[in-house]
Amino acid sequence: HTARFVIDPEFSVGDVDPRLYGTFVEHMGRCVYTGIHDPEHPTADAAGFRGDVADLVRELGTGLVRYPGGNFVSGYHWEDGVGPVSERPRRLDLAWRSIETNHVGTNEFLGWAKQLGLDPMMAVNLGTRGIDAARALVEYCNHPGGTAWSDLRIKHGVSDPHGVKLWCLGNEMDGPWQTGHKSATEYGRLAAEAGKAMRQVDPSIELVACGSSNSRMPTFGTWEREVLEQTYDEVDYLSLHAYYEEFDGDRASFLASGAHMDQYIRDVVSTADHVRAVRGAKKHIKLSFDEWNVWYAARFVGERNLETAETPRLIEDTYSVTDAAVVGSLLITLLRNADRVAVACLAQLVNVIAPIRTEPGGASWRQTIFHPFAQAARFAGGRVLRTDVTGPRIETPRYGDVSALDTVVTHDEETGGLTVLAVNRDQEQPLRIEAALRGDVAGYRVVEHLVLADEDHDAVNTEAQPDRVVPRQASGTHITTEGALAAELPPVSWNVIRLA
Ligand code: AHR
Repeated sequence: HTARFVIDPEFSVGDVDPRLYGTFVEHMGRCVYTGIHDPEHPTADAAGFRGDVADLVRELGTGLVRYPGGNFVSGYHWEDGVGPVSERPRRLDLAWRSIETNHVGTNEFLGWAKQLGLDPMMAVNLGTRGIDAARALVEYCNHPGGTAWSDLRIKHGVSDPHGVKLWCLGNEMDGPWQTGHKSATEYGRLAAEAGKAMRQVDPSIELVACGSSNSRMPTFGTWEREVLEQTYDEVDYLSLHAYYEEFDGDRASFLASGAHMDQYIRDVVSTADHVRAVRGAKKHIKLSFDEWNVWYAARFVGERNLETAETPRLIEDTYSVTDAAVVGSLLITLLRNADRVAVACLAQLVNVIAPIRTEPGGASWRQTIFHPFAQAARFAGGRVLRTDVTGPRIETPRYGDVSALDTVVTHDEETGGLTVLAVNRDQEQPLRIEAALRGDVAGYRVVEHLVLADEDHDAVNTEAQPDRVVPRQASGTHITTEGALAAELPPVSWNVIRLA
């Protein structure tokens, strides 16, 4: 039961854009309020942001955070969230039927992000609003001063421009659930004109057009084509969103979710390149996978008839070892497509389908999925190397025949470090890997092999047992006499093997 592949620094796919390790903070449930922000918490700073959560965000290693939505942004008046907090309106948020107090808004969020060294990715409302509100927000955030909107920011206590570089032109505008849902033609025109005006304010910004909300949308493929036909010259990225869950006990397919993500990426790349070919354009549109994760959405359907509440507990999924292996596999997939995927955001950051959980005024802890993300962000940088695996296959009801081993290798040319990320999708058997080391990395030694696995594939971390599931050092990983890396991966496991 052995999977084999070759590691050769000459087989390069592309560089890892650090923005692949993005996350997402939406005004939804308890992501912002009692998540990152909780003035009553003993560790809160002067602005009310939790110190314990800030520490976990640093440890997670995310470098980019998308804000403020999500579906929330499609009804959001950003002006409600700036200026004196006591004067801010309480609004009914239609996306999640919640009361939005606006205690946290643009300046608070961007101040928090800056303090943590995070690059923001801001979304504008193209649901209920349009060009004017979008270009005003860019002016408020990025213009140095001497104009009405930039001077208002200065009056609000922020003298230096925020310099937000990356902007989403709305969110999931193809979805009938979206406030202000549009056809591809309606959205494409609006996104092109809003983007143009935003760039007229600040020519240095980069823009993301909405792709489909997921690959099962009836308009998938035609939506991407029509939107890009209208926005090609204005935008830099096209978005993808995908959430995975286990259906009807079909764990084999769930563990193969990366195979779906991989095909989805290829389909969107093909569609974008088709539009490029027809236009005779030079530039390639890159992808922003700005929402991805495991989400037990089927369970949420029952909760969807929401009572109107302030800071409700929404979709606070608790993640298992299996979920961590799937998240690891999705990370591997994103990295393998680093030539076209430039931005990716694990959705979301705290409490709402998140790697970090908190209790109001109380504890915070790492979910199982925290670990693969933090380890990849820390160790998998530099250049992605191509790996063609031969070895055991698994038959899955949804995605057909998939490799038991899901893997990607990165090579950091500055440090020389080589990192193998690997998931064993087999639920019963350990998987042996043998990777021949070629070229500059022949002769490398094993630094460590960290593994996240458990005899109980459903084991989770909770407030009472926050470290029930953590990565551990694996033993036995070595270089063979033929100069190959050899390791054994337990069933349903996430592995980080470092060589130097
Ligand atoms: O992340 C939760 C929600 O999922 C987002 O608001 C929306 O964009 C997506 O449907």
